[in-house]
Amino acid sequence: MDLIGYIESKREDNLNELKEFLRIPSVSTQSEHKQDVERAARWVAEKLRAAGFEKIEIVPTKLHPLVYGESLQAPGKPTVLFYGHYDVQPAEPLELWTTPAFEPAVRNGNLFGRGTADDKGQVHIHLKALEALKKVDGKLPVNVKVIIEGEEEVGSVSLWDFVQKNRERLKADALVVSDSSMLSRGIPSITYGLRGLNYYQLELTGPAQDLHSGSFGGAVPNPLTILAETLAKLHDKNFRVAVPGFYDQVAKISREERKAIEALPWREKEFRRTVGAPGLCGEKGFSIIEQIWTRPTLEVNGIWGGYTGEGAKTVIPSKAYAKVSTRLVPNQDPAKIAKLVERHVRKLLPKTVSLKFEVLSTGKPWLASYSHPVFQKAIHALEQGFGRKAVFIREGGSIPFVSQMDDTFNIPCVLIGFGLPDENAHAPDEHIALENYFGGIKSIAIFYEQLAAT
Ligand code: BES
Ligand code: MN
Ligand code: MN
Repeated sequence: MDLIGYIESKREDNLNELKEFLRIPSVSTQSEHKQDVERAARWVAEKLRAAGFEKIEIVPTKLHPLVYGESLQAPGKPTVLFYGHYDVQPAEPLELWTTPAFEPAVRNGNLFGRGTADDKGQVHIHLKALEALKKVDGKLPVNVKVIIEGEEEVGSVSLWDFVQKNRERLKADALVVSDSSMLSRGIPSITYGLRGLNYYQLELTGPAQDLHSGSFGGAVPNPLTILAETLAKLHDKNFRVAVPGFYDQVAKISREERKAIEALPWREKEFRRTVGAPGLCGEKGFSIIEQIWTRPTLEVNGIWGGYTGEGAKTVIPSKAYAKVSTRLVPNQDPAKIAKLVERHVRKLLPKTVSLKFEVLSTGKPWLASYSHPVFQKAIHALEQGFGRKAVFIREGGSIPFVSQMDDTFNIPCVLIGFGLPDENAHAPDEHIALENYFGGIKSIAIFYEQLAAT
C-alpha cells in the first residue's frame, strides 16, 4: 500500500489512540498528577517503539521525565530533531467544559479535550506520520531524534540541562516542532517568530497577620489596595508598558516584513469574534497582528489575597499576591527586563508594605529567517496535505526551547503548527479540528519523506 493510502486506512485507529493519550491527565503544574505525568511519558515511549525507534529512553529529571528516542537507520540522509510536549495545562475551571476535559469527544468535526491542540494532538500527528513511514517502507526515510518533554507548560525547567549534557547526541540538521497554530482555518502556516516570556510572582506583606477591618481599618496599610494601585500603574493611557527602559532594546520591524504581514489572509472580524470582548485595546500605532506578534507586553495573570469565599468576611489581609508576565520580542534581554520590572515595582510601592519578587521562569524571543531549502520542502508537504500553499507567520506565544536550540546548534527550526487560534488552548473546551489532525499526519509524513530526497 502507498503511504497516503495507508494513512487513510488508519484514520479510525489513529483517532482512537489519540483519545487514549488524551485520557491521561498529565497536568505538569499540579503535584497530584505526578503519577499521570509519568504514565503519559511511558505511553509516549511505547508509541515510539511502534513508530520504529530503536533507542528509547525515559529520562528522569528533577520534576517530570522527558522521553528521548532515536532512529538512525538512514546513513547519508539528514537528521531531524523533533520536539513536542506531552504535559498539559490544568483543566480548571471544570464546570465550563461542555464534556469533561479528560474524556475526549468529537463534535462538529472537532475533537475536544485538554491537550488536543496543545500539544498531545500535534505530537500524535508526528508519531503516526513516522509510524506510517515505518510500516510502508520498512524503515524511516531520515534519521530522527525526538524529545517529547513533560515540563513545557511549567517553563521547561529541566530541558536545558538535558540539552547541555547531550550536545553531541542531539546534533541534527533541522529542528521540527508542532506546538503552534495556523493563521486560520484552511491556511497551513509555518511560524518563523515567537515571543519570549518572563513570569513573575509578587507577594506584598502589610500587617504581620490578618486583622479585623473594624478594629484596625483606617490606620493600617491594606496590601490588596496597594497591589491594585501598583498594577494599575504598569501601563500608560496608550497601553504602553510604563516600566522605564522596557522598550529600549525592541527591534523595529522592517518595511518589507510589515508589508508581508499586512498581505496575510488574516481577518480582524474573525479575531474579534474569537476574543468575544465588547472592545479591543492595544498599543497605539500598531495593527492588531503587529501588537501580538511584534510588540512586547506586560500582563496580569492573576491576583489574590484576603477573603474570596462565600458571603462576607471583614478582614485586612496580611498578604496580597499577583502573577505577572512579560512577553518579549527581539532584541529584549529577559534577564535585563526582569531587573527593570522588579526595580520599577519596588519604586512604586509605599514603605508601608514589603515585597517579595520572584522570577518563576524566563525565555528569550525567537525570530529566524526561512531561506533554508528545508522550508521549501515543508511548503510542498503542506500543500500535499492541505491543498493550499503555506504562509509564513509569527506568533505571540512562547516556546523557550526553540530559541535555546537555535542558539546552541544554529540549525533551521521548522515550526509547523496544526492548532487554530480559536481552539481554546489553556482554556475550557480546548479542541483540534479533525481536518487539521488528519491533514497534519499526511503532511508530516510527506515532509519526512521529502527530507530524504536531495
Ligand atoms: N504551545 C504553546 C506556545 C504557543 C502558543 C506557540 C501559541 C504559538 C502560539 C506552549 O505550550 C505554551 O503555552 N507556552 C507558554 C510558555 C511556557 C514557558 C509556559 C506560553 O506561551 O504562555
Ligand atoms: Mn504547547
Ligand atoms: Mn501551552
